Amino acid sequence: MKIAIAGKGGVGKTTISGTICRVLAQNGEKVLAIDGDPNPNLSVVLGIDKDLPPQKSLSTDIIERVEEGDSWRFQVKMPFDEILDTYGQNAPDDVTLLIVGKPEQAGTGCMCGSHTVVRELIHSALSSEENAAMVVDTEASLEHMKRGTSQHVDKMYMVLEPYYRSLEAAGRFAEMAKQLGINEVEAIANKVRTEEEANAIHEYCNKIDLPVAVMVPYDENVAAADLKGVSIMDYNSDSKMIKAIESFVSKINT
Ligand SMILES: Nc1ncnc2c1ncn2[C@@H]1O[C@H](COP(=O)(O)OP(=O)(O)OP(=O)(O)O)[C@@H](O)[C@H]1O
Ligand SMILES: [Mg+2]
Repeated sequence: MKIAIAGKGGVGKTTISGTICRVLAQNGEKVLAIDGDPNPNLSVVLGIDKDLPPQKSLSTDIIERVEEGDSWRFQVKMPFDEILDTYGQNAPDDVTLLIVGKPEQAGTGCMCGSHTVVRELIHSALSSEENAAMVVDTEASLEHMKRGTSQHVDKMYMVLEPYYRSLEAAGRFAEMAKQLGINEVEAIANKVRTEEEANAIHEYCNKIDLPVAVMVPYDENVAAADLKGVSIMDYNSDSKMIKAIESFVSKINT
């Protein structure tokens, strides 16, 4: 199962991605978590000690330009398992984290933009059969999901919050994802406080034909864990948010 988590800024993509990873891993899956955000913070949600040194930086050197007749394309030079051995970080519950969102610009090699590198790395990860489960935490755009990545993603989840602009943005993102060829797009509603909010989400998503996979409640424990810089799973594994993600994971086909 390879899934991508997308949505507007601040909706809860990283919190949800990291929690899905930990729940999958606790269920016995081998999980690769990919942080595609240029401001990476998935490691905290995964439970990696914030005082540990960060992952060795990936560099744009890892990409090469390949000429093909009159045209050219970029490709990742190293086999994906080697990338994982060199740059991957072990996280609790046996999740492996790979941060790809902020490659260092190398002085040599391919002078491609960092977006290209991120896109190629995500493509390389998703097209490798190495890991059973992969979760990609994207930045708040679908830039990384271009370049045929769509064919390797089983499902994309749009995280949304119960207010109109967020619903509208999720609808737009879902449309873009479909245009990129990702056929399986569903919503994850997050920070839901009342039945009225839940109803409004259902009503909007019905209208735009976007199935709602799960309603994740607003949870004070998430904010409290965030304030301390620890994983919600380690802060309170019985919290409402974790329970909702556990029920979601038990329903998705891994
Ligand atoms: N279910 C929830 N209940 C309460 N607070 C939540 C919940 N989910 C996320 N949050 C809070 O919302 C904020 C944003 O969460 P998060 O960083 O996961 O969002 P994001 O979509 O990844 O943001 P960005 O676009 O900046 O990457 C954080 O302060 C987080 O603690
Ligand atoms: Mg994030």
